[in-house]
Amino acid sequence: MSLDVASIKEDFPIFKRSIRDGKKLVYLDSGATSQKPRSVIEAEGNFYRLHNAAVHRGAHQLAEEATDAYEGAREIVANFLGAHVDEIVFTKSATESLNLLAYAFSNAQPGNRFALQPGDEIVVTEMEHHANLIPWQQLAARSGATLSWFGLTTEGRLNLEPLKKLITAKTKIVALTHQSNVLGTINPLAEIVARAHEVGAVVILDACQSAPHMSIDVSALDVDFLVFSGHKAVGPTGVGVLWGKAELLDQLPPFLFGGSMIETVTMTSATWAKAPKRFEAGVPNMAQAVGLGTALQYLTRIGMDSIHEHEQVLTKYLIEQLISIDDVRIVGPLSCENRGASVSFTCGDIHPHDMGQFLDNQGIAVRTGHHCAWPLARAMGVPSTTRASLYLYNDISDVDALTNGIRDAQKYFGK
Ligand code: ALA
Repeated sequence: MSLDVASIKEDFPIFKRSIRDGKKLVYLDSGATSQKPRSVIEAEGNFYRLHNAAVHRGAHQLAEEATDAYEGAREIVANFLGAHVDEIVFTKSATESLNLLAYAFSNAQPGNRFALQPGDEIVVTEMEHHANLIPWQQLAARSGATLSWFGLTTEGRLNLEPLKKLITAKTKIVALTHQSNVLGTINPLAEIVARAHEVGAVVILDACQSAPHMSIDVSALDVDFLVFSGHKAVGPTGVGVLWGKAELLDQLPPFLFGGSMIETVTMTSATWAKAPKRFEAGVPNMAQAVGLGTALQYLTRIGMDSIHEHEQVLTKYLIEQLISIDDVRIVGPLSCENRGASVSFTCGDIHPHDMGQFLDNQGIAVRTGHHCAWPLARAMGVPSTTRASLYLYNDISDVDALTNGIRDAQKYFGK
């Protein structure tokens, strides 16, 4: 393993506690939310303890310090994504980033490049979690645009065969996940992005499950917008990121209206500040943004390539162990090529909720259900699954605990 997991675990105070009457915590639910290192918890606390003031407003030292900390966090996010600092918008979550985009499209006046008309098309995929599906369903309903989607192969990869039929001259938006939260599939962006740009559509990438786990360079990906959430990247809850190409953000109408996002205001009208301020109405989530900056510095110090490599090794081991258990079916690719560390499975007719509860009694935290991706579960022919999602603080002993737990569950349920 390329990471020193024992020393990484030392950085995360939660691993010092025990669970379920003295058992070791085996945390395999980072796809839902990650644990937080001490430095992030302290950065958020220190903001309130030492620097708290409303950014961009006050004429005093605290306001200056708060503004420096908040804008410093923006710079860290920009560096993390290989972006320009003015292209980074702080939101409260990735879900809000996606809703911001969908509402901004609705607010576009005729003639604006983002204005949609009946007959325009929005293309998604069948593997989206609800946050990257429902905002587009709603935008389609508001605008009269049509929603269409890439289906899946039996292995849980995108079926790209109908690429040219799906992405047409009418397509205005292609919104897709970089890495499935359920299947672990990492999607082949280059082909999709090339086709979308050929027809003049914008590509919106949901990087919730990829940005915390691998190096991201927005120029290399050549997508137009990208979103991710802080809390899945060892950062605080309550902060998300929207990145957009500068020339696009500047043409995008605002979503939330109020203080800080304006240029001028009269009693009857207002004009908008440039991005990113245009999209950050009100006093923003300053402490959370600062915490996210510290989180990304933490991940960068460990190394995104090392994190990815570590997860690859661990995922390969997890898949090998799972398929060696009778009746376990992995829902998603078995090969680690273009695959991340979310591994969903079923186990005979043991209901995932029973499996989750059994594992929880052993101190093993997994997620069960449809994982906020109900259409995906239907497409894969499973009502629900058990999901283990790995991160930098997991090691082989966590995988062994899971697979031993599954075998114990089989015995307990008489399978
Ligand atoms: N999308 C998050 C998950 O996969 C909530 O658990």
